[in-house]
Amino acid sequence: MEYRIFASTDELALACADIFMELLKEKKNAVLGLATGASPVKTYQELIRRYEAGEISFADVTTFNLDEYCDLPKNDKNSYYTFMHENLFNHVDIKEENTHLMDGNAADAELEAAAFDALIEEAGGIDIQLLGVGRNGHIGFNEPADHFSDGSFKVKLKQSTIDANSIYFDENPMPRYALTMGIGTIMKAKKIVLIATGEKKAEAIRAAIKGEVTPRCPVSILQRHPDALLLLDKEAASLL
Ligand code: F6R
Repeated sequence: MEYRIFASTDELALACADIFMELLKEKKNAVLGLATGASPVKTYQELIRRYEAGEISFADVTTFNLDEYCDLPKNDKNSYYTFMHENLFNHVDIKEENTHLMDGNAADAELEAAAFDALIEEAGGIDIQLLGVGRNGHIGFNEPADHFSDGSFKVKLKQSTIDANSIYFDENPMPRYALTMGIGTIMKAKKIVLIATGEKKAEAIRAAIKGEVTPRCPVSILQRHPDALLLLDKEAASLL
């Protein structure tokens, strides 16, 4: 597992956008695994800027998102479907039918998650999976647990995740469940790029890089991935 430390989140976002751009130059029909949350926002803004400048196109790209809340209308302002459209999809030439998020309201969550994993396989697998990390070390919504998960599944969110994300839910209470790519699904990606910024992520990053590989800190599994890169700002890297 490699890591790079940046002086600013702007520089980090430029470097991350460079990685995506390099892939899209080589492979116009790349399969991207995407994340929501604060961490990737600047990278998405930079990708939109490059698209508007005519430097990249998403016309042949396929995307799969890490996770989606359960029991939240698809078009709710806090759904990850809405997030992805507002922060990336509405601003580039990606085809709606090539974007994939799990349906958090599916009647059969298990079936929905299995179908999602099958679709990823059918698409040829994920070329680059973008990740953020939770303060508790979660990736996707793989919360600290006794075992690493395998395929995608429905998860009960930990109180620490609810505390971290409930700031976005001013009207309705934050959902308690989500569908998430499993650790096995994430680890199958050919390349993994994780963004972590701010001191609140410092302990998770220390554990990820210096700690033992344990499902109590799910991000630590990246030590076992052959091509995982962590992009960190100085604060997130402050305990290394
Ligand atoms: C988002 C996701 C989560 C976030 C993590 C960090 O799709 O899967 O694991 O990446 O909770 O969130 P931020 O970036 O908001 O600090």
